[in-house]
Amino acid sequence: MNQPRMGGIATINAPAYVKQQKLINWVAEVAALTKPDQIYWCDGSQAEYDRLCSEMVAAGTMKKLNQEKRPDSYLACSDPSDVARVEDRTFICSANKEDAGPTNNWTDPAEMRNTLHGLFDGCMQGRTMYVVPFSMGPLGSPIAHIGVELSDSPYVAVNMRIMTRMGKAVYDVLGSDGEFVPCVHSVGAPLAAGQKDVAWPCNPTKYIVHYPETREIWSYGSGYGGNALLGKKCFALRIASTMGRDQGWLAEHMLILGVESPAGKKHYVAAAFPSACGKTNFAMLIPPVGFEGWKVTTIGDDIAWIKPGADGRLYAINPEAGYFGVAPGTNDKTNHNCMASMRENTIFTNVALTDDGDVWWEGMTSTAPEHLIDWQGKDWTPAIAKETGAKAAHPNARFTVAATQNPVIDAAWDDPAGVPISSFIFGGRRSTTVPLVTEARNWVEGVYMAATMGSETTAAAAGQQGIVRRDPFAMLPFIGYNMSDYFQHWLTLGEKLAAQGKQNAVELPKIFCVNWFRTGADGKFVWPGFGDNMRVLKWMLDRLEGEKAGGVEHLFGVTPRYADLSWEGLNFSEEQFDLITAIDKAAWKAETALHTELFDKLKYHLPKELADVKLALEKQLAD
Ligand code: GTP
Ligand code: SPV
Ligand code: MN
Repeated sequence: MNQPRMGGIATINAPAYVKQQKLINWVAEVAALTKPDQIYWCDGSQAEYDRLCSEMVAAGTMKKLNQEKRPDSYLACSDPSDVARVEDRTFICSANKEDAGPTNNWTDPAEMRNTLHGLFDGCMQGRTMYVVPFSMGPLGSPIAHIGVELSDSPYVAVNMRIMTRMGKAVYDVLGSDGEFVPCVHSVGAPLAAGQKDVAWPCNPTKYIVHYPETREIWSYGSGYGGNALLGKKCFALRIASTMGRDQGWLAEHMLILGVESPAGKKHYVAAAFPSACGKTNFAMLIPPVGFEGWKVTTIGDDIAWIKPGADGRLYAINPEAGYFGVAPGTNDKTNHNCMASMRENTIFTNVALTDDGDVWWEGMTSTAPEHLIDWQGKDWTPAIAKETGAKAAHPNARFTVAATQNPVIDAAWDDPAGVPISSFIFGGRRSTTVPLVTEARNWVEGVYMAATMGSETTAAAAGQQGIVRRDPFAMLPFIGYNMSDYFQHWLTLGEKLAAQGKQNAVELPKIFCVNWFRTGADGKFVWPGFGDNMRVLKWMLDRLEGEKAGGVEHLFGVTPRYADLSWEGLNFSEEQFDLITAIDKAAWKAETALHTELFDKLKYHLPKELADVKLALEKQLAD
């Protein structure tokens, strides 16, 4: 299907199974602008994946790992300037500035189109443009949405095959007039005739652009993660959140897990933590000693699409088909299921290479190998690391793996009907102030907690790390419209569900707030986290089951006492528990001042209910 350049314009040559003229015309239009040498229509087959991977191995973009150690797996190392999402280069170009809101970068759409037209003109010269058709959600399901990404990166094509339902079956669903979200992506590195390519082409100028009204995505200059795999944050969160606003559903930065008690009672919970704050780990949790008979299963690890059912319940699906997870810190103890998932058929990005052709990252084993090639291709030894601080793997190094490789995938993970959500959990990375777990007393207070959540920044986004910022609903970088309108959307949905639920004797999901990351005087995390988070999860489930578990009401919700959690199998003292649950009034006064700062920024359309919760909180703090 690869067509030679003809008079400077690649032939379109759509396969016969592509039945939609509008799509073919759009491909032709983008090709006329970007001027690739060739156009390749991806069919999503294993043979195609294997071929693209071998071509990338030949080009130096990927290394094939030792077939015995890590079958059918690859390592890609990016340019050191292209290692994470670029939030300051991400734009929501709605017609009105207020619709993007004060938390998003905004440029007038006409002006942005003009800028991008200049950048995309000829940007694929010397390269192949891959046509990547994908479905977010099960193919053909009424809740799924289709996208087509045009990209000049074969790395994007193979990653999209793992992360989404990608391939020619998408065209059957699209038919002659189905809708799709057009996604255009270029690394922004055209090649002159005869110019040798680099291993990881990219451009110092980056633009990640969304047009919510026309539901289009244009991404320029980066080949990494959410900047380039456009089905993920760009489509399934930023564009989908605007679809949800218009159609009455939610697109959230949430994992979804199933948890079944030894008695066989099963709940599904959805949890929003900011990037690199524990979603993948929580979604694959292994219950610790003392929790025999409990089962945790994964629906999704990063994104949830959540729709109200006629019964007043919320039903959630995972629109993705794979995990693009953080490697550092992942090991057999912290996340055994994740390690098992990536035993084979995995693409690793920016981890280190061992001398026997396998991978390694910080935290994978307690002692580092004696020698490695680090993610930048340099020699690495523990001595070098000690001297220079060099990391073997980049802190935002990732693995891409199919969800079906997860040993604890939930039986319903692919069910188009979705799973009913019993509760929502919100959590940030906070070394101080925020207690281990708090239950909101009602929906509005829960929305307030989520809206005012703060978290320390991580390596998942370019920029300074460890700075506390407000990250409402863990959606700060991902909301496709005005944040205040989004809060209102949650409040309105709560009212609707409550009314519907009343008729069906269905309760609103409970809302909890957690923090696994309080540190002690030594700077270390006090809470063991990972599997032990089950102790907190069980308390939440007990609260769902008619408040069987005890707790105390405090400033802004209900918190378990030491005796309310199960401690079997863990040596954790009451003093340690106090360190991570104590609520310091002075700290909370400072915290609410930050809520005020946020609300001042969001004043346009900020729901009055939230301002009222804040007033009540401030009043209590003043007493
Ligand atoms: P994104 O994919 O960026 O959205 O991240 P995520 O929210 O899925 O985070 P992930 O589960 O990949 O965890 C990120 C980092 O936090 C990893 O290094 C984990 O080892 C670490 N982590 C996850 N859960 C816990 C926990 O309960 N306690 C501690 N201390 N660290 C954790
Ligand atoms: C995140 O940053 O929240 C991620 C990784 O899940 S990326 O796909 O790069 O956005
Ligand atoms: Mn994420």
